[in-house]
Amino acid sequence: MRAISIGMNVADIDTPALCLDIEVVEANIKRMAYYFRDSPVRLRPHSKKHKSPTLGHMQLEAGAIGITCAKLGEAEVMVAAGIKDVLIANQIVGPGKIARLVNLAAHSEVMVAVDDAANVANLNAAAEAKGIRLRTLIEVDIGMQRCGASPGQPVLHLAREILASPGLRFEGLMGYEGHAIFTEDIDERRTKTEESLKLLTDSAELLRQEDIPVGIVSGGGTGTYFITGAYPGITELQVGSYISMDSQYRQLPGVDFDNGLTVLVTVISTRDDDHAITDAGMKALTHDFGLPVVIDPPGWQLTDLAEEHGFLKRIDGPRLRPGDKVTIVPNHGCTTINLHDHYHVIRRGILEAVWPIAGRGKTY
Ligand SMILES: Cc1ncc(COP(=O)(O)O)c(C=O)c1O
Repeated sequence: MRAISIGMNVADIDTPALCLDIEVVEANIKRMAYYFRDSPVRLRPHSKKHKSPTLGHMQLEAGAIGITCAKLGEAEVMVAAGIKDVLIANQIVGPGKIARLVNLAAHSEVMVAVDDAANVANLNAAAEAKGIRLRTLIEVDIGMQRCGASPGQPVLHLAREILASPGLRFEGLMGYEGHAIFTEDIDERRTKTEESLKLLTDSAELLRQEDIPVGIVSGGGTGTYFITGAYPGITELQVGSYISMDSQYRQLPGVDFDNGLTVLVTVISTRDDDHAITDAGMKALTHDFGLPVVIDPPGWQLTDLAEEHGFLKRIDGPRLRPGDKVTIVPNHGCTTINLHDHYHVIRRGILEAVWPIAGRGKTY
């Protein structure tokens, strides 16, 4: 058990510790909500980043209409914590998972993405047996080449399958322009995003021409919120990372949210004045998108992560000694948060709360 007491100074927290600057998070939630205050576009923030019902409730209080999840297990966590309107922006396949999904839908407003006629038939059979109508969105592949039906006729065909399924309710379409989101140049990002979104909104129009009502047209991410959120025909955004950011997103031009996520680590050994080893390796920090960034003390750089060790190199910072604390910004918040049990919630340098990361590890 960690020795921890609410009200302690952040510098005294046992490490490695995932820390959340709650003032930054509150400001980011407010800023995104304010940006869309006069817009018809609604927010359904993706919880793949924070994995916390507590933070999900904060987003709902700020006006979000629901929460998005990547996984069924994450959706179960959100619903159990009282968040009813949840989009699983992924396909749920296989009898065991489909059974869990229809049981979840019996006491929530969960929606699921579909892109395959056989999956639609399986969902329908399970929903009918349960006596519910399961809400479905067709995922459209708008260029990312991940999941999704091809735009146009294949979407129309699938919509007809859903409409002919008494256990299912057709809610609309979703697409994700993930291939465009990290494009550095904003004009280029806008062009790629708009080309992708056209495939989505044209598919919605095709359905409407066939008298199929399309309520939801959902897309977007933190790197494109100002593009996708202004695109005609988009009704909802699935933005996720804006809530706490990370160093990769912080560097992306046009994304003006602050970083509120850090990992506090401790120096456990120093080879010489220019090298220090910390207690946080890749079981506490991820490097799938590149190495995390040292922000305190300045003048030090993380050069490698072993399993349980972080390698620091001095550029021009002060000398470090065993026991010194170092603050690091994760490069990829989503995968880093998933390694930790708790957020250490910090306000102005003081530990205000410890929140479980209830969706952590719910990859199933
Ligand atoms: C389906 C889907 N929607 C939205 C997002 C947006 O997330 P972010 O705001 O972190 O870019 C993601 C991120 O992976 C996603 O997979």
